[in-house]
Amino acid sequence: MYVVLLGLPGAGKGTQAAILKDETGLPHVTTGELFRENIRQSTDLGKKAQPFVESGRLVPDEITIGMLLDGISQPDCAGGCMLDGFPRNVEQARALDEALAAQGKRLDRAIYISVDTDELVRRLSGRWSCPNCGAVYNEISLPPKIPGVCDNCGSRLEQRKDDRPEAVRTRLEVNLKNLEPLLGYYRAQGKLCEASGEGLVEEVTRAVRACLERER
Ligand code: AP5
Ligand code: MG
Ligand code: ZN
Repeated sequence: MYVVLLGLPGAGKGTQAAILKDETGLPHVTTGELFRENIRQSTDLGKKAQPFVESGRLVPDEITIGMLLDGISQPDCAGGCMLDGFPRNVEQARALDEALAAQGKRLDRAIYISVDTDELVRRLSGRWSCPNCGAVYNEISLPPKIPGVCDNCGSRLEQRKDDRPEAVRTRLEVNLKNLEPLLGYYRAQGKLCEASGEGLVEEVTRAVRACLERER
């Protein structure tokens, strides 16, 4: 099964993909994390992506699409995967459809996690992430057991550079502009399912799960 998780910054794409990964066995492929890993390692791709990622703008399609297609052609994605943060525009959605079709596969579902903008800003300002294992916390809604320390691996938690207020504003603007056309693209294909991203994490998981289980 190939699934894309759509949603504005802070909607809970990463949180839900991490939970559903164990349950569904679908690997979690996230372009944001791929970029951050390349930035940490100072690869050529990381150097090109860094100014875009840290200011909250989209990385150009010619860099992003190649990286993602490379990611999903890895053996662990042969039986399917859950994409988080890709596609962000119709061009990327088309590129994904073409790449899957070339392998005789297709996208099964596009799940849109919807959350009100004020709530997104609140969530992002309180987010802390583990640079080692990728676990995501929130000061208010999902605090770690020991403040500043990852429950899973004991590493020191960090705040993302793009969670600064100015970058958050840019991310919301950019993503809001692209959202409707992207939802329209998948609606026209009959693949779109909306899951409310408001409410407790487990409630959102139930809504996303219902989308996964829905008959086509
Ligand atoms: P990316 O890392 O994907 O950032 P994003 O889209 O802005 O999304 P986030 O990761 O911020 O939010 P999320 O939905 O995963 O929420 P989370 O689960 O963490 O991309 C970063 C950058 O990379 C982009 O800006 C761009 O530059 C580049 N990029 C990536 N993909 C690209 C593409 N396709 N094309 C071009 N450029 C690309 O949750 C947020 C917080 O809320 C956490 O603290 C969490 O604990 C908390 N939380 C989660 N659920 C709940 C809940 N139900 N109630 C209360 N709190 C909750
Ligand atoms: Mg994320
Ligand atoms: Zn960790």
